[in-house]
Amino acid sequence: MEWKDEIKDLFDTLTSRVPDGVRSAIQTMLHEAAEESARYRNSGYVNKDDLISALFKITPDAAQSTLVNELKSLNIDTDRYIQLSEIKQKYNRSWDEIGAAFIPNVYHMTMYLTDRCNQNCVHCAAEMKKPREELTTEQWIDIVENIEGTLKKQGRRGCYIWFGGEPTLRKDLPDLINYCAEKGYHQAIATNGMGFTEELAELCAKVKMSHIFISIDSTKPERAAKIRGVPNAYKVAENAIKTAVKYGHFVICTPTIMALNFDELENLKQTIEGWGAIPFFRAVIKQRSAKKNWDVIGLTPEQYKQFYEFKYQNVVEAIRQGKATTLNRANTFDMVPFMENPLNDEELTALEWGVGCQACRLVSGVDVNGDFFPCDYPSELILGNVVHQTFEEIMNSQLFKDIRDRKRTGKCASCHHLELCGGGCRVHAECETGDFFASFPYCWHEDDHEH
Ligand SMILES: C[S@@+](CC[C@H](N)C(=O)[O-])C[C@H]1O[C@@H](n2cnc3c(N)ncnc32)[C@H](O)[C@@H]1O
Ligand code: SF4
Ligand code: SF4
Repeated sequence: MEWKDEIKDLFDTLTSRVPDGVRSAIQTMLHEAAEESARYRNSGYVNKDDLISALFKITPDAAQSTLVNELKSLNIDTDRYIQLSEIKQKYNRSWDEIGAAFIPNVYHMTMYLTDRCNQNCVHCAAEMKKPREELTTEQWIDIVENIEGTLKKQGRRGCYIWFGGEPTLRKDLPDLINYCAEKGYHQAIATNGMGFTEELAELCAKVKMSHIFISIDSTKPERAAKIRGVPNAYKVAENAIKTAVKYGHFVICTPTIMALNFDELENLKQTIEGWGAIPFFRAVIKQRSAKKNWDVIGLTPEQYKQFYEFKYQNVVEAIRQGKATTLNRANTFDMVPFMENPLNDEELTALEWGVGCQACRLVSGVDVNGDFFPCDYPSELILGNVVHQTFEEIMNSQLFKDIRDRKRTGKCASCHHLELCGGGCRVHAECETGDFFASFPYCWHEDDHEH
């Protein structure tokens, strides 16, 4: 676990005020409690919030007022930390609980509850000309049961990601959340933050939701407004992320990288990590609104290459710093052609967990009308409809198996990277070529090259 210099200094300052006789014991306890708090955030480093809330946690009630006075003398906002520490203790969950939805046999399903949205993003892949009729609460519950029933027979579980459009616009979202909670099913939510209220954050914490995806595409308010089509997009995302972190959630921020924010990769990473969340970068796919606005937002093949190198470098660095256990699918998931071969089995294992195209393996999606997408993003290719068919029937189709088994055409078919890279993002390939199985158009790897 990493400790930045300023946090180490704060640790030393705080513990220097403890009487000599107990200092060493307190140092050990505080160190452990701060690292535990960081692990609950799925983080590889301790931040100020971890350290101070840990201090409140290990301090006996009788000594809390002395602690408050000590911290005030250091200009630390004690009221905020008392509240934070109470919230964290109330909703804390173990890494095992969070990690449970990220073990490889859990199938993540994006559930497109609605086409409606309260933002208007330049790149939206979900945007429809006219919102379609929506399924009822009971129909969504039937779909969850249909999928969970099929997976259970295989010893697997689902994780249901409430998606859209903007899922918080569905009035029955709390009902769906409560249903899955009562049944003990894994669930998550993907939101732009506009409707991620304190009340919803609390409900999600109470039911121990696996993770919360919150979109943020720029650290610059003007750019964020331009990308998301609403003036306060940045503030909305920042508030939602901070609220989710405050409630102890495992927060994954999803910047979509396009020409408008390409220069912000590092800034976004640092800002998001500084808030106690983790970034999950996705490259823009030329689809629906994005296709219409491609002249302004599209990436060049060279930018895609730089983007994937940035992503891969972060993953490899995390693995090499021994943080593989805190990595989850989101860090590596997506197309990552191999710039370097894994150095050893440990590295290979960490990479294999979620690298490359996961369509029909770990992710799929259910559209507003029950149509079944192979990937979590919408595609022209539909594998069936889970209102009318069982998920088992769809899983047994040849098309499903071909995607799962990474059948590809063109140069990917004979490429020695295919096993790990999976031929790149399939939805992207479909949007560029019209064929879901075609070779990834931006891949820079040459045939038959050596490493
Ligand atoms: C479709 S939205 C649904 C949830 C919610 N409305 C939101 O924006 O977070 C889910 C994620 O997909 C991203 N996304 C939308 N269009 C995309 C595209 N063309 N390429 C890549 N990602 C895209 C969004 O930025 C967002 O992070
Ligand atoms: S990306 Fe999300 S917030 Fe933006 S328009 Fe699409 S559904 Fe709405
Ligand atoms: S050619 Fe295809 S399989 Fe090979 S690295 Fe590129 S996208 Fe991956």
